[in-house]
Amino acid sequence: MAVWGKQGLGWMVAGVVMTAASLWASDTPPAESERPPLKHVPSANCGACHQEIFLQWSNSMHAKSTALTDPIHGAVYRMEAGDPSEEGVTHKVTKSFPACLQCHAPIAARDKTTKLDAKPMYAEGVNCVACHTMTHFKGVQGEDGKPQLGASAYDYSKDSLQGPEGAFHGKQPIPAPGGGAEPKVNAFPHQARSALFKSSEICLGCHQTMVNPQKVAVCTIGDLLLGKEVKETKVKGKEVKETRDVVAPTCQSCHMPVLNGFASHEILGGHDPEKVRKSVALTLVAREDDGKIAAAITLKNTLLHTMPNSAPFRNMVLKVTALNDKGEVVWSNFKENPDKEDPQAFLILKLLNNEGQPVMPPQATKIGPDSRLKPGEKRVLNYSLPASGVKSVRAELFYNLITKPMMEKLGEQLPEELKKPALVGRADAVL
Ligand code: HEC
Ligand code: HEC
Ligand code: HEC
Ligand code: HEC
Ligand code: HEC
Repeated sequence: MAVWGKQGLGWMVAGVVMTAASLWASDTPPAESERPPLKHVPSANCGACHQEIFLQWSNSMHAKSTALTDPIHGAVYRMEAGDPSEEGVTHKVTKSFPACLQCHAPIAARDKTTKLDAKPMYAEGVNCVACHTMTHFKGVQGEDGKPQLGASAYDYSKDSLQGPEGAFHGKQPIPAPGGGAEPKVNAFPHQARSALFKSSEICLGCHQTMVNPQKVAVCTIGDLLLGKEVKETKVKGKEVKETRDVVAPTCQSCHMPVLNGFASHEILGGHDPEKVRKSVALTLVAREDDGKIAAAITLKNTLLHTMPNSAPFRNMVLKVTALNDKGEVVWSNFKENPDKEDPQAFLILKLLNNEGQPVMPPQATKIGPDSRLKPGEKRVLNYSLPASGVKSVRAELFYNLITKPMMEKLGEQLPEELKKPALVGRADAVL
């Protein structure tokens, strides 16, 4: 059995057994001086053994999170910072290292570089070692009160992989790639960090909040998900806000279900209409009365998130149409712009400038009205329309990754499929 020089500690702690296989395909691990640091191990190396997890991750937005690989983030990054293949790029407003990289390209941020094509693991975005070297969550606010977001919210191990249980937790070792008889065992020592990997803390460094240069928190995750319940009551006419800790499900419990015996790394969200479809239940009841149709549409948010969630430009639009017996549309709740024509049908968190105009997140100076569905909320939207010639009423719920103004500004740089509204709910009522 090959034993490497300095790995004793992590090894003893985790109780990992080493065999002669290494990350570098040969049976003799390279001398420590010749090994790249753990944070520079590309995900494909991990994928040699963890094939299924590697494939799941490769298809996830975590693997496509950089300005080189995500067209939407790429367009905004180029506008706010600069060319992701250049060194020395700074944020145009703060004039400092672009904070975006702390979350969208965490290994580049840890190396303080902005040239994302310089090494494969920079362009890999939120890759295996970005998460599996984390040892401790420090919180998203530094001791000086300044935000410490993404990669800077964690402490790291330089040389041992971190995971929920330490490597050996009673499962079969993964067979060697190519079906060789000798099972391969990871050459890096493992340490168990269940407190981090089994809690939401592993996600919150990047997902809890995002502040723009004006220090406006343009995206936040609901308090309930952080295990806090906020109760507002009135005591002697005064508003009192009470916060208490509650047992909340972890992010992993919904986003990393166990598939084929392993926690799935697909980690789906807004880019997957199937996932969004599961989040809102849509029902429609329509009644004719006295030459009018009364239609009641119920939207039930099944999540502990607001819906839509997270990135502030995500939005949902409810389209209500009345059809005649030929299936032609004879009435609709809006023609062009739901925000102007039927505001209740437009679900979004608005970000405003000082004049109260809706602006893109980087320019926002304050949070505006929030028409999103609250966690668990059941909302009924009522419509009244002329009954003449109407055979059926239809309600359709669409999800958009970005807003219309953003589309106009960045549209040319984006592929069509990211601009198309996704149909995530539909109900019909025949009269
Ligand atoms: C604290 C971590 C963090 C920082 C810092 C951050 N982001 Fe993000 N960003 C995220 C997360 C998490 C998402 C995914 C949110 C979602 O899916 O709703 C995201 C999503 C986005 C998206 C949408 C991408 C898509 O495919 O729809 C854009 C655009 C974006 N960020 C731009 C930026 C820019 C530009 C910066 C720097 C000025 C930045 N972000 C800084 C965490 C961060
Ligand atoms: C966004 C952070 C993140 C990234 C990126 C990530 N992981 Fe994980 N990984 C986790 C978390 C969290 C768990 C624990 C999940 C649980 O137990 O609920 C985990 C668990 C695992 C496990 C144990 C699975 C099990 O159920 O026994 C393996 C193996 C693993 N990851 C390998 C990888 C590999 C290989 C990659 C890259 C292809 C990768 N991870 C990328 C966060 C991440
Ligand atoms: C040579 C094969 C091999 C390579 C390469 C490899 N691993 Fe593993 N890994 C294993 C085996 C075997 C286990 C134990 C599996 C088990 O018990 O289920 C394991 C377990 C894990 C676990 C689970 C630990 C826990 O706490 O439960 C994580 C996380 C993990 N590996 C991450 C990685 C990452 C990240 C890389 C790339 C830097 C990597 N592995 C490269 C073979 C490998
Ligand atoms: C190092 C930062 C980082 C960590 C840690 C991290 N994420 Fe992310 N996550 C991101 C970024 C950046 C994006 C946005 C990618 C994009 O759209 O460009 C994202 C996107 C997502 C999405 C949206 C995917 C989609 O289809 O649009 C989900 C869901 C998600 N993350 C869940 C998680 C969960 C659950 C965890 C913890 C297990 C986690 N993330 C940990 C940075 C991170
Ligand atoms: C009760 C299940 C559940 C829990 C718990 C949960 N999520 Fe989600 N999450 C979902 C579903 C379903 C979606 C898809 C709907 C959507 O895109 O908003 C989603 C969407 C997302 C998105 C993408 C939002 C968008 O519109 O692009 C992000 C990012 C995300 N979750 C992060 C997290 C994080 C971080 C946690 C832990 C703090 C968490 N989630 C906890 C179910 C859950």
